[in-house]
Amino acid sequence: MRINENYGNLKENYLFSDIARKVNEYKASHPDADVIRLGIGDVTLPLCKSVVDAMVKATLEMGKKETFRGYGDEQGYSFLQEAIADYYKKRGVALDISEIFISDGAKSDLGNMLDLFSTDNTALIPDPVYPVYVDTNILAGRKIAFLNANEENGFLPLPDENTKGDIVYICSPNNPTGAVYDREGLKKWVDWANACGAVILFDAAYEAFISDDSLPHSIYEIEGARTCAVEVCSLSKTAGFTGTRCGYTVVPEALIRGGKPLRKMWLRRQTTKFNGVPYIVQRGAEAVFTDAGQREIKENIAYYKENARIIADALGRAGIAFSGGVHSPYIWLKCPGGMTSWEYFDLLLNKANVVGTPGAGFGKNGEGYLRLTAFGDRGRIKEAVERIIKLK
Ligand code: MLT
Repeated sequence: MRINENYGNLKENYLFSDIARKVNEYKASHPDADVIRLGIGDVTLPLCKSVVDAMVKATLEMGKKETFRGYGDEQGYSFLQEAIADYYKKRGVALDISEIFISDGAKSDLGNMLDLFSTDNTALIPDPVYPVYVDTNILAGRKIAFLNANEENGFLPLPDENTKGDIVYICSPNNPTGAVYDREGLKKWVDWANACGAVILFDAAYEAFISDDSLPHSIYEIEGARTCAVEVCSLSKTAGFTGTRCGYTVVPEALIRGGKPLRKMWLRRQTTKFNGVPYIVQRGAEAVFTDAGQREIKENIAYYKENARIIADALGRAGIAFSGGVHSPYIWLKCPGGMTSWEYFDLLLNKANVVGTPGAGFGKNGEGYLRLTAFGDRGRIKEAVERIIKLK
């Protein structure tokens, strides 16, 4: 038998596993080192009260015969789909609940969505980029064309008459650079995709970090997006669900390719390969969209954004160039002294005991950059930046 030989085309390790291994090796040889991790974008604040209360209540329901539930509804419970539809409605986006699919997070859906498309297609992927977009296409053996995201275009590539591809990934606010598309920029992508029949996979995982409401949170705020875009979102960063796992994907009814509605294909795919998110977690997710839940998660997001401001302020004082951190929990900094990403990563780990994510791990255009996350504890963030600027 033959195995999927495309595995041989992947880098040996997933970026964040590689970093974790390096940090663990360092800790093993320096057991007393006080290492501060600002690498992977993992949240540190606990789930908010509304979410915990809802999950406790749901857990008790699961322990009683009258309220126990087995398999859930195929696309997720309608109580959660309705809460999400209402959330979109506040931004003027009307979604039918049949277009909303509850998932265990953005990462899985971004990979699984590729089941809908032929492997003969070309994927257009920005560089630098969240490595999942690249790896999932490599695994499928699909051709990849990269879109340069760099200082010249503000890390926000736009299509032109030479842009060719079938599936295009857009993440805004962007991981790793923190850059955000405005309406005009997204409209260019929507018009391009509708004109050539491509599909946009829009990753909105960081939408809750946008503080300027003239910027779009959802691609469906852009006219024409319903006929060309799938939107994937997650409560991981919005509401601290990195370990709890819940997200959602929107596939509009009007999105037809090859004569087939992608919504129906996705439903078919999910009913065959996915048995849904636990009832208890979906009740917790529902609580995120209540007034109290929104108030509470916004306090947490404000805490992380203040962390980002503290990092930005310190880097500014130290004369280290950076972008991001305003509508995003990520700071994208230029490694001082012309160091490569991994050189600076090693220097920070060895001399400051601070862990960042080397920009080169996000693609060739990330070389010479390093990403810091603002998801840490306030005191630790302050300590980390002091150590970083002292090294400069
Ligand atoms: C990141 O650090 O880029 C993210 O935490 C990774 C993820 O969301 O899977």
